[in-house]
Amino acid sequence: MASRAEAFSARTVLPKPVGRPDDCLVIRGGKPLRGLWRVDGAKNAALPLMVATLLTDGLVTLTNLPGILDVAVLAELLDGLGVEQHWSYADQGLRATFAGVRVTGQPDPEGVRRMRASFLILGPLLARTGVASVALPGGDAIGTRPVDIHLDGLIALGAEISQDHGAITARAPKGLMGANYTLSFPSVGATEHLVMTATLASGRTELRNCAREPEVTDLCRLLVAMGAEIDGIGSDRLVIIGGKRLGGAVHRTIPDRIEAGTIIAAAAATGGEVELRGPGIEDLGAAHDLFLRAGVRLRDVEGGLVASAPPGGLTGTDFVTQPFPGVATDLQPPLMAMMLKAAGSARIDETLFENRFRHVDDMRRLGADIVVRGRTALVRGVQRLSGAAVRGTDVRAASSLAIAGLMAEGETILEGLDHLDRGHAAFTERLAALGADVTRIQR
Ligand code: UD1
Repeated sequence: MASRAEAFSARTVLPKPVGRPDDCLVIRGGKPLRGLWRVDGAKNAALPLMVATLLTDGLVTLTNLPGILDVAVLAELLDGLGVEQHWSYADQGLRATFAGVRVTGQPDPEGVRRMRASFLILGPLLARTGVASVALPGGDAIGTRPVDIHLDGLIALGAEISQDHGAITARAPKGLMGANYTLSFPSVGATEHLVMTATLASGRTELRNCAREPEVTDLCRLLVAMGAEIDGIGSDRLVIIGGKRLGGAVHRTIPDRIEAGTIIAAAAATGGEVELRGPGIEDLGAAHDLFLRAGVRLRDVEGGLVASAPPGGLTGTDFVTQPFPGVATDLQPPLMAMMLKAAGSARIDETLFENRFRHVDDMRRLGADIVVRGRTALVRGVQRLSGAAVRGTDVRAASSLAIAGLMAEGETILEGLDHLDRGHAAFTERLAALGADVTRIQR
């Protein structure tokens, strides 16, 4: 099998880093995770950064991109729109240079349906070429996930929107113009979509009730490096003076705070100690406080942080998922896994997505004691979990079930690795390097 470095060296288009659809992970639990984990660039930052390359005919180089399936699918979509790319594998993650000199055509509906973030193409493509038609998005099955805020905002900027045969078409016969717009909810995707589009809309745009996630900030920083004028970065009010021609830039993707939180949860839940390279403790946001309350020990070290399990075991800790700076909904499944054997109980309120407890049934198969009422789950810590066959139905469900398998006695077979591949590169190899007994096989 080619190493990660060989697989990614000097390609013009990123190859898909996936195994076969029937792959599964065989986990023999009970080993504490110990060692070093280099945290990849953030999936949720990388995808909008890549879409932003549509806004310019200059060369945009992005470094520290993660070698995950979603990045590969988006690379293909951009390639289909005429954005030339050169990919290489550097020690510090993937590096790609994008050249959208002649952007033309519409994104392949098949690719768009595979990933929600591809919907962000609509506004930038409209701004660049005057018309865009993008299939309604797919992605994780974690709720209804409408796109009404994206579309309302684009209409405020002067777009005319129509829907036909499962696709949204946007036109701007009079051009895009700056506007004042208040998002009805601080949607991450809609904020990113509107900021990008506003950079090419003429005049001043003021967006209120924006998402403040670090990934939104990372995107704004790239746009500024490309020549955009944006005030209020990191706050819920963004002011964009648009209409200027954007140019090239070089930008490093922020580390993945969700991957970091997932591995901290895995280290703590297995009684281990892991050094994470990339993020510092301050990058964990509200999850930092939650980890501390649960007893996880965290300390900053040069270039990263060290997470270790408390000698006396974890303590069940209540939490509520919220938009940033609250606890991220994407961490809810791994954090729930961390609570499965903790002392006492943990009440978990999921406020972002109505369908985000799909991992619970499978956790119960491993012996977990979880009761769900509406958007609240009550986890009572158990003495032991025992391996079983389980299936991850989205990226975070899959990683959380991997953690639960690492905590369980005997063998757990985890299916749904296509979901895991969407968000984590070489997950099996990197877990094995921490001492986990994990093997990826084809059934
Ligand atoms: C992004 C992340 C995802 C994370 C989510 C919340 C990416 C690629 N994905 O998704 O991993 O779980 O933020 O942190 O960055 N909503 C509407 N109308 C809209 C848009 C959103 O009602 O037009 C609702 C959604 O249904 C959901 C809530 O707003 O209930 C949050 O969604 P949003 O912040 O938009 O999430 P995404 O950008 O899709």
